[in-house]
Amino acid sequence: MRIETSRTVETDPVEDYAFNDSAASMTPDWYDVDQPLRSAVAHLASCSSKFNWVGVYVLNGSTLELGPYIGAPTEHTRIEVGVGVCGTAVARDEDMNVPDVTATDNYLACSLETKSELVVLIRSQDRRIVGQIDIDSHEHAAFGPEEERLVRDVAEALGERWLEEPAADRG
Ligand code: SME
Repeated sequence: MRIETSRTVETDPVEDYAFNDSAASMTPDWYDVDQPLRSAVAHLASCSSKFNWVGVYVLNGSTLELGPYIGAPTEHTRIEVGVGVCGTAVARDEDMNVPDVTATDNYLACSLETKSELVVLIRSQDRRIVGQIDIDSHEHAAFGPEEERLVRDVAEALGERWLEEPAADRG
């Protein structure tokens, strides 16, 4: 399946990683085997007008590296574990749903318009954290149980196909 979106998917700086399509049971219709992360981002961005910035960060050692994203360019292309909402999710080993980012001390502003943020961890088959999906919204408290479920389903589909060694490390 090709990506159909009116919004451009940027990739900076991490390219799509290697994925193992045969490891997964059911392939979602949004999933593009040639560009899994881009297809996930494009799919999520098309799901809700409240999703104003959608991106994937890949965990490389103790650093989150920005992969494909849709939305305003961000200076936060590399985030250390423990820093910001993104790094805190990894440090705490849990997803983060922040209804009001202005009430959060440890927040890295991507855009002044952002009011709420959802970070869902991507776990490989052995349950290691390999990355995360980060979504910002210009609406306050944009992420309810339905949105969480949607994003977790996408994170799970990516995680179960994630190979041990990322393609980017192989050159
Ligand atoms: N707000 C995030 C940084 C990433 S940008 O939103 C794209 C954080 O606090 O970690």
